[in-house]
Amino acid sequence: MRDDQTGPARDREGRAAREERGRPPRRIVVVSGGGIAAYKIPDLVRKLVRAGHSVRCALTPAAASFVSPLALQTVSGEPVRQSLLDPGEEGQIGHIDLADWAELVIVAPATANLLARMAHGLADDLVTTVLLATRAPVLVAPAMNLNMWDHPATRQNLDILRSRGVHMVGPDSGELACGWEGAGRMSEPAAIAEVAESVLCPDTLAGERVLITAGGTREALDPVRALTNRSSGKMGYALAAEAARRGAEVVLVSAPTNLPIPVGVRRVDVESALEMRSAVLDEIDACGIAICCAAVADFRPAEAASRKIKKEDLEPDAGLRLELVRNPDILAEIAAPGGERARRVVVGFAAESHDVIGASERKLARKGCDLLVANDISRRDAGFETDTNAVILLEPGAGPEELPLLPKGEVAARILDRVDKIRGERSSRS
Ligand code: PMT
Repeated sequence: MRDDQTGPARDREGRAAREERGRPPRRIVVVSGGGIAAYKIPDLVRKLVRAGHSVRCALTPAAASFVSPLALQTVSGEPVRQSLLDPGEEGQIGHIDLADWAELVIVAPATANLLARMAHGLADDLVTTVLLATRAPVLVAPAMNLNMWDHPATRQNLDILRSRGVHMVGPDSGELACGWEGAGRMSEPAAIAEVAESVLCPDTLAGERVLITAGGTREALDPVRALTNRSSGKMGYALAAEAARRGAEVVLVSAPTNLPIPVGVRRVDVESALEMRSAVLDEIDACGIAICCAAVADFRPAEAASRKIKKEDLEPDAGLRLELVRNPDILAEIAAPGGERARRVVVGFAAESHDVIGASERKLARKGCDLLVANDISRRDAGFETDTNAVILLEPGAGPEELPLLPKGEVAARILDRVDKIRGERSSRS
């Protein structure tokens, strides 16, 4: 999807990108209870529409006091339903039609009252009737006062809903609209949309543990300075988010970045290549898939000074000579034959500035991985720090597949589609 596009063109591209990946747009009903967090729902709907989905909204009578039905109609492009007994509304989309139309129902904000009515099967307004009638999965995003959240009645209602397979996101902790501080804030629209994707996504990696490395390692020169590179972590974090969406247990071994931990991912923070290597070796035995996306420094200072190096301590006008030693090659080490290697799929990356395919084919052979993802870092819109990437997928014995310029989330999905294919081929051979 191009960043310069807006409005319907962008939404159409979102839909086209999903179709192309065999992940069709889905039909989502968003129902809202009467809480202050309802003001964030137009943003949630916009995000879902941008991701290519069709969205219809329904409100409890109280919700309409916190969010304008017209705002929701504008962002969804669909009429908003509010009343069970309104002949006009019912004539347009019947409440059972709405329940049947849904492939996912998101309840946001889910107030204590709405959760209680769901848990006990009430159908006394449009929203609860749709929730009782639908056969689609349901995702709730609770939002309420801290004491209501902690109340045994709410806890029991949540247990009932969980036992029926209802999915939950949040609530977050922080300052609440009522003035209290603690758990009860509705999750941000981006997090709700993210969890919705994972509920809708086929669990192709369920039961699998995936190790991903991300970011640029930092090799200390002294307590203040370090040798590092331009990796932002965006590509590796996109892979971690996508693997979690597909049901995997994800361990993200991350060099320093400014990125938030993707939903459902366990992050292990490291700084240097040596720390990354030992974190990877601690985790690798339990992992069936390993993806080395980190930009690992090939060299580190032979010695890191324990105190700040000061120019005053050097001869006037003298330069500073650094001695660098090689870092271990983490990817080559985990891709080497032996142990559980044969049952593991190992993916490497290659950041190349010229002769991208030639250099990457040689790297694939040298490192011994099952798939190599080559990016042409001479492009301004690909590789380090960008939100998009243009990669070539290389597998031993197969021709290179060049992907178009795509958002890093889409690139991650294509890489994991290829990993799925490799796993499928392996299991049909054995
Ligand atoms: O983080 P972003 O800003 O989103 O940028 C993404 C990226 C450009 C960093 C990413 O797409 C990428 O290309 N990562 C690999 C960068 C790199 O270091 O490439 P390399 O050609 O130097 O290394 C090849 C492979 O060996 C990589 O899988 C690397 O993780 C691994 N390696 C390298 C050196 C080393 N000592 N140990 C390793 O495991």
